[in-house]
Amino acid sequence: MASGLRHFIDLSTVDAQDLRFMLDDARARKKRLKAGEREKPLEGKALAMIFDKPSTRTRVSFDVGMRQLGGETIMLTGAEMQLGRSETIADTAKVLSRYVDAIMIRTTAHERLLELAENATVPVINALTDDTHPCQIMADILTFEEHRGPVKDKLFAWTGDGNNVLHSLIEASARMDFRLNIAVPKGSEPDAKYVEWARANGGRITFTKTAEEAVADADCVVTDTWVSMGQEHRARGGNVFMPYQVNEALMKHARSDALFMHCLPAHRGEEVTDEVIDGPHSVVFDEAENRLHAQKAVLAWCLTR
Ligand code: CP
Ligand code: NVA
Repeated sequence: MASGLRHFIDLSTVDAQDLRFMLDDARARKKRLKAGEREKPLEGKALAMIFDKPSTRTRVSFDVGMRQLGGETIMLTGAEMQLGRSETIADTAKVLSRYVDAIMIRTTAHERLLELAENATVPVINALTDDTHPCQIMADILTFEEHRGPVKDKLFAWTGDGNNVLHSLIEASARMDFRLNIAVPKGSEPDAKYVEWARANGGRITFTKTAEEAVADADCVVTDTWVSMGQEHRARGGNVFMPYQVNEALMKHARSDALFMHCLPAHRGEEVTDEVIDGPHSVVFDEAENRLHAQKAVLAWCLTR
């Protein structure tokens, strides 16, 4: 990778101090925004946003966030670029770097993101791949800390599919020093390399047999769709995931003040019931809002020194 660039690839590729700086910065920027202050540190800067998969939150929050910071955005979809006619990622990275100040990409294989970052001469931001979703987890930590204070030593519980969002949560557990229980059905385990990295970096991760065991005394219960983008061939709502559904009975095992998180979009009646996602534990719309504030801090970290 071009030396000295601040890419935001994963929570494992950014050190804990920088992540903490961004979280604190996000909180401060949010406060100033709500107080009506306007600041334009990224005036004259442009962000290219490439989407190889659908998005509502990521697309709008990066677009609005960049504009709030005084910058501009260019929305691109892979299929409409020459990328879709097999121009290489490497050449695309080199060309875009001549026009814009940063590139954000949501794509399929994680290697595509890495290849983009290897060849770009501007910062590259991961807006979700098949493997990870670090911007989501930055927003989740920001949300947790707004409601419950420092995340250190708290207990998070994940129940459902072992997917990209979980991989970033696993990395966060090591970086931010919270405990993480995981309950997933056989065959849906997270990739072992994330667990190994986290454990090697002080992560406290426990796999449990049941969702009830995972959630016991948890400060925060997290789930996500059973069928991620690009996995539509997998059966939806299958019995195999039903024991991992977050419903009122499951939430009773968590602490009485536990938060419920979901990155959205939710499949109500599958991974979570209406009672929980619309209920008193749920902070899902705070999480969605905090995508904006967390990513503004990521953009500022990448683009200002
Ligand atoms: N949570 C999230 O990334 O949502 P979108 O797919 O709508 O961007
Ligand atoms: N795991 C989900 C997250 C969507 C924001 C997916 O990849 O589709």
